[in-house]
This record gives sequence, structure tokens and C-alpha cells, in this order.
Amino acid sequence: MSLLKIRKDFTFLDDNKWIYLDNACQSLRPRQVVDAIKEYYENYPVCAGRSNYRLAVELQQKLTDVRLLVSKFIGAKKPTEVIFTRNTTEGINLIANSYPFVEDDVVLISDKEHNSNLVPWLLLAKTKKIKVEIFSTNIDSTWNWESFNQKLSSKVKMVSLGITSNLDGVTIPFEEIIKKSHQFGAKVLLDGAQWAGHRQTEVSKWGTDFFVFSGHKTLGPTGTGVLYGKEEELAKLQPYQVGGSTVADTSYTDFELLGIPERFEAGLQDYSGILGLGEALRYLGSIAWSEIEAHEKKLTEIIIEGLEKIPDINIIGPKESDKRNGIISFYHPKAQSHQISIILDQTANIMVRSGRHCVHSWFNDRGVKDCVRASTAFYNTIEEAERFVNELKKVIGVLT
Ligand SMILES: Cc1ncc(COP(=O)(O)O)c(C=O)c1O
Repeated sequence: MSLLKIRKDFTFLDDNKWIYLDNACQSLRPRQVVDAIKEYYENYPVCAGRSNYRLAVELQQKLTDVRLLVSKFIGAKKPTEVIFTRNTTEGINLIANSYPFVEDDVVLISDKEHNSNLVPWLLLAKTKKIKVEIFSTNIDSTWNWESFNQKLSSKVKMVSLGITSNLDGVTIPFEEIIKKSHQFGAKVLLDGAQWAGHRQTEVSKWGTDFFVFSGHKTLGPTGTGVLYGKEEELAKLQPYQVGGSTVADTSYTDFELLGIPERFEAGLQDYSGILGLGEALRYLGSIAWSEIEAHEKKLTEIIIEGLEKIPDINIIGPKESDKRNGIISFYHPKAQSHQISIILDQTANIMVRSGRHCVHSWFNDRGVKDCVRASTAFYNTIEEAERFVNELKKVIGVLT
């Protein structure tokens, strides 16, 4: 992996002006992705599928190609197991609202889920009277089998978990979790928002029933995402959004749904976004996952080692870099998180995020006000990680 060559593809990084460490929010895009979006608007800005002129047919073929590419990228058996969405959140909402849950069914989640994998279930508990059960992670926010096992029962219909936490980068032992959940008859929905752009996805090999991720966290355009479902599981879903593009025929009293996946993709789709997503995954696929992993581990190591040298800093989650995927969160008792991020930005052009990172429930439960989060990607350099640590030391020095 040549970082020099890679960084040339990311126009935003070209002049080394900015240090972007907010990759958990969204990743940057290489020019290939931007070109694909531009190409759509400049060369074939038409409707796919609905029209039969040549450009429409060509566009339809390109979209079909992207669906195939996505299916290969995530290791699905068939392209028809891939549904285009706007983001991870939409994918989870689709399952929450389309899966045939009945009253008293249990959905099991951890105490550290992103709001997107908490609120849809809490809402469903109000509307459909399902039950949401929450198991605890350890004090250092790693996986706790005992707590999970205690909650797992034949009443659990869905186990829904983030593979990698956006709070602390900890990855759960998902393959064992899938096996265990299936033994109890529960289906598994994996939230791959913080996973898909960093590690290899193999949905079919893992045996997960559903998997969701966001294009904008995997080098793709904003507002793109994917829901994967095993063919037999997608067949059980009753679409919750219908209308144009989802039906083969209608009368004034009835309708005939199209097949899968079309029935789940209501209305005109984000054509340029899907084409950009295709380029993003093609780009990611051209770099070895082992190299991405090794590089992100090194960045994590440098940041954690640096943080440990700053007096009174509290690192959320384990200190070992191999237990977290490139996300490092911390807080300081005497320095406000928002002040830290604002000063880093204004004095050193370093972008990190401060706040509760859409895991308000965890912060409320643990009595932690907020934190600063630095999240890396394969295009970040060792020098950037070191500079971040050095600048942070200065900022904390000023604030305390
Ligand atoms: C673990 C996790 N799940 C879900 C989401 C929601 O992603 P999106 O806003 O793209 O729907 C995020 C976003 O940061 C996330 O980190």
C-alpha cells in the first residue's frame, strides 16, 4: 500500500493542510468516486429502468453491475440479496418495520449501541409491543459473554449488534455470536457501519441473516447505504415503504409487488450515489485488507501510547490497540471535550469529534458527560497521528 499514491487520489488531502480524524462520521472520497458522480450528471442524467431509450438502458445496466459488485464486496451469494438504502439507519429501520415481529417478541441489543440501533427498536416496543432486552458490556466496554448468555432465550427473535463500536472501536466476536444466537432460533442483524470500510466482510461465510452499512463511511457518497439479507430472510419481510418502482401492477383496491430487491427500493433511486458507491468499493477492493488493518493498528497504537502519557486522561475502552479498530475516545476531568476539539481545529487544522457520538444511552448510564473521538482511516499517516498527539498535549496543557 503506497500512502503517497493513495493520498494523491484524495484531493482534500493533497496539500496536507488538514488532518482528518473524523472517519467514523464519514470517510473522505477518492477522485474516482467524485468522477463517477459527475459522469452520471454529465453523460447520462436519465431515469433507469422506467424508460427504454438507450441511455436509460445503459444506466440500468451500470446499476445492475454495482449491485453485483456490492454483493461480491460483502461476500453475498447473490446480487438480489443486496438492497440499496440511504444509510445504515435506514437499513435497520427497514428491518424493524418489515420483519414479522409480534407482541412480546424480544429484540436483544447491547448497552453500547448507536442510536440507530436502539431507537428503531424502542419505537417498535411502543407501536408493536415487542420487548427490547439490553445486555451489558464489561467495564472496559469489551464483550461480556455472561451477560449476553443470560439474556439469550427462545423468546429472542432478533439479535441486533454493531460489529465495531463507534464509541471506542471495539469489535465484538460476531461469528460466535451468530452461531450462539441461531442455536436459540434468533436471527442476527449486524450493523457494519464502522466495519465495512476497515475490514473484510463475508456475510455468507459468517452466516448472518442481515447486515447493514453506509456508503459514506466506506469512501462512498453521502446518503448511500446497503442492506444485505439472506434470500430466505428477505422473503419474510413485508415492505414498509411502497409506491413507484415497487409494484408490477395496481388496481384501485390492490397491488402486486415486484420481486426482491425492487420491492424494497421505493421511488426514484440515488443513481449518482449508487454509481459513486460502486467506485468506492472498487477502490477499497484494490487495497489488501491486511495492509489496511496493519496500518490502522499502527495509528491506533501511536495515539493510545501518546494519550497514556497525558496526565489524567481517561481512555474509553481497552488500551490494547489490537482490541479496537482505529477509533480512540477519551475525556479529561479538567478540560471540556468541545473546547479540545475546537482548539485542535482552530490552532492545528485537526478535525476530531466531541460529544456523545449518538450513544447517549451509554453516557447517561455510565455518568460520563461526553468525550473526544479520533477516528482513523487507511489514508491517515503516522505523522498525522503523531502530530495529533503532540497538539493535543499542548491543548490540554493550556486548558488545565
Ligand atoms: C455503529 C454505527 N451504527 C449506525 C450508524 C448510523 O450511520 P448512518 O448515519 O450512516 O445511518 C453509525 C454512524 O456513525 C454508527 O457508527
